[in-house]
Amino acid sequence: MAVITGGAGGNGRAIARAFHDAGYRVALVDVDKASLDAARRDAFRDRSECTTVAADVSIPADCERAANQIVDAHGRIDALVNGAGLYRLNRIDDADFRATYGLLMSVNVEGVLNMTLAARAGLERSQGAIVNIASIESTLAGSASIGYTVSKTAVAGLTRALAADLAPRGIRVNAVAPGIVDTPMVAHLAEDERAGRRAKARIALKRFASPDEIANVVLFLASPAASYMTGSVVVADGGYLLS
Ligand SMILES: NC(=O)c1ccc[n+]([C@@H]2O[C@H](COP(=O)([O-])OP(=O)(O)OC[C@H]3O[C@@H](n4cnc5c(N)ncnc54)[C@H](O)[C@@H]3O)[C@@H](O)[C@H]2O)c1
Repeated sequence: MAVITGGAGGNGRAIARAFHDAGYRVALVDVDKASLDAARRDAFRDRSECTTVAADVSIPADCERAANQIVDAHGRIDALVNGAGLYRLNRIDDADFRATYGLLMSVNVEGVLNMTLAARAGLERSQGAIVNIASIESTLAGSASIGYTVSKTAVAGLTRALAADLAPRGIRVNAVAPGIVDTPMVAHLAEDERAGRRAKARIALKRFASPDEIANVVLFLASPAASYMTGSVVVADGGYLLS
């Protein structure tokens, strides 16, 4: 069983398909109930192949409920992908600076911790793996995005700290740090042609990633093929960080 938070989003849907195609049963966890239903309808012809759970990862009780529901139904969790995330502009002089900063930290960082705590018994039972979705903003400062940059830097740190802590229990923890991926999160770059062109010019491969290209890396890190990897933050950015 692979549990994917943010499973209704652009990356989440592609990750769900990749795990399904690799033979995993899949559970999608997302705060957006309508998109969850749409994701299951779009991606899975046979609904029994995919469980959906509406939950807010920033709320510990929601995560406990989601993990318990999945373990009760399926007995084990082989992979937890912590993909639920928010992006917001966040400048120091914004009137709502603190509120937005707090929101980003509670979803992007606490959300990873909350689901990890909730799923750890199920993961230990199957000697499973966690894959967190970090970002190139785990390494560099995005423009006007203090909360997002700090939150994704924390995801990288959390990945390393959890990897050390959970290794004795047989759970591996890694992260993928994508560059710009063509999902609803970056719809503004598709709408603003000039901004999109400028962003692509910075990328060595001169294009954004497709969600499938990120899903392949997530699947690899969760799979036995990555059995000697833990605590790694694997960059998949088309060469964005080269310049
Ligand atoms: N798209 C990119 O360019 C990009 C780059 C680097 C990292 N990422 C990361 O990839 C992950 C997935 O993002 P995406 O690009 O698919 O964006 P997306 O907006 O399509 O998907 C994000 C999903 O997370 C869900 N979500 C938000 N808050 C939640 C909460 N509190 N509880 C549960 N679910 C919640 C949303 O409903 C949505 O379905 C995020 O962690 C994001 O930061 C995205």
